[in-house]
Amino acid sequence: MTDLQKRGDRSPVPTDWTYAPAPESTDIVRLQERYGLYVGGEWLETKDQFTTIAPRDESPLAEVGQASEADVQNAVAAAREAFKSWSKLPATERAKYLFRIARILAERSREFAVLESLNGGKPIKESRDVDLPLAAAHFFYYAGWADKLEYAYPNRSPKPLGVAGQIIPWNFPLLMLAWKIAPALACGNTVVLKPAETTPLTALLFADVCRQAEVPPGVVNIVTGDGSTGAHLVRSEGIGKVAFTGSTEVGKAIQRELAGRDISLTLELGGKAANIVFEDCALDQAVEGIVNGIYFNQGHVCCAGSRLLVQESIHDQLVRKLKRRMSTLRVGDPLDKNTDVGAINSKAQLDRITELVQAGTDEGAELYQPPCRLPEKGWWFAPTVFTNVAQSHRIAQEEIFGPVLSVLTFRTPDEAVEKANNTMYGLSAGIWTEKGSRILWMADRLRAGVVWGNTFNRFDPASPFGGYKESGFGREGGRHGLEAYLRFE
Ligand code: NAI
Ligand code: MG
Repeated sequence: MTDLQKRGDRSPVPTDWTYAPAPESTDIVRLQERYGLYVGGEWLETKDQFTTIAPRDESPLAEVGQASEADVQNAVAAAREAFKSWSKLPATERAKYLFRIARILAERSREFAVLESLNGGKPIKESRDVDLPLAAAHFFYYAGWADKLEYAYPNRSPKPLGVAGQIIPWNFPLLMLAWKIAPALACGNTVVLKPAETTPLTALLFADVCRQAEVPPGVVNIVTGDGSTGAHLVRSEGIGKVAFTGSTEVGKAIQRELAGRDISLTLELGGKAANIVFEDCALDQAVEGIVNGIYFNQGHVCCAGSRLLVQESIHDQLVRKLKRRMSTLRVGDPLDKNTDVGAINSKAQLDRITELVQAGTDEGAELYQPPCRLPEKGWWFAPTVFTNVAQSHRIAQEEIFGPVLSVLTFRTPDEAVEKANNTMYGLSAGIWTEKGSRILWMADRLRAGVVWGNTFNRFDPASPFGGYKESGFGREGGRHGLEAYLRFE
């Protein structure tokens, strides 16, 4: 073993090995000073505005409209009007629009990726290689289903629901838009979409894609604003469907609001996924999967592998390897092509992460962060791992939604299942073992919508995604994802 390896194994300190900056230019993005709402194919002014900023340096990017109740009603009315003809369009024609949107997204992907990183804080490497290709793939995928609904549901006469009110979060702004809009339009619905207040810009740029694709006015409407705008949308008369991705707290409020109304609902809420590592796994691969599972997108991921369950016999070795790997993560400017961990999306989210990490220390878990220099402006949180975590700790129960991993141990597969399921959530899980039969045995027993075997955070438009328990209900993606936007006679 060389000196370097020895040193790296004990204390991860190669901080003097820096990369030269490799910033992606922002020239390709042309921002307006001020944006209205995209309603009925036109831009409408709002009475109130708010400023949207860049989390990497808190600099203002643009003024964005705060949609009022009347603005939301307007958008729903435009969507209802458009529904009359859009739902009657031959399905092959609807498919053409979706194919066009997919192609334009692919053509303009660099522009969208830069804007996504600028407004949301995620590394350009991720928006370029994950968010954009997947968003385009979603439109391609659902374009293919548009004229095959009768085959997907033989003898069941699938019909669209009407206007879909869609509310999305800030962690995957454009991708969540694609998950919502593509299946809705493919099934013949029209939409009113509300992006999150901290990340409205790619949704507003998407309005320009709709213009370019000549999507008929009113089929896609984008209303910006905070939670009150979302609440107006949920309460509005004239919608046939609500699709929400966000916190469990707001999901519950929406479900209460819709009780007794004939409105179809899907909820995709939080998670506290177990990433379960057995002693016979390929350890270095597992370490990569653990890092990807929790530090991808700063851990702002509902299906993040935030609870690491390690078989006791390999605990020390795995933690040593993990810490060493963490010391090589580059934290900093989201627009730098070398960045692995970007900016925290908002001050509020940073405060929430900080509070939960403090609780972890207070409750007796052991914290480790690799040495890294965080930029002075903007919002940042160093990659963090907690060892000596008990199941009762807040950091083992609550969704942190940041780059913070909690490590727990188990001895037997039964114990792993029990601990993995000991949560109010049930969105995803990961299993690392050489034994295929064990993966199947575990997957059968885990109460999680998605179970990954020897991988993590893998997405494909053809594969359904969704939760159990307080992670929500309904599935997005795949043929299952169509059902959320259809009724059957
Ligand atoms: P949030 O649930 O408040 O926001 C998500 C979306 O819902 C945003 O567009 C927001 O404007 C909208 N919204 C807020 N209140 C609403 C209401 N009463 N009616 C209708 N729409 C409403 O999430 P927030 O506050 O940004 O994050 C808090 C925590 O939630 C995070 O720390 C994280 O744990 C979790 N979260 C989970 C997400 C997921 O993908 N499952 C996404 C975002 C947050
Ligand atoms: Mg909130």
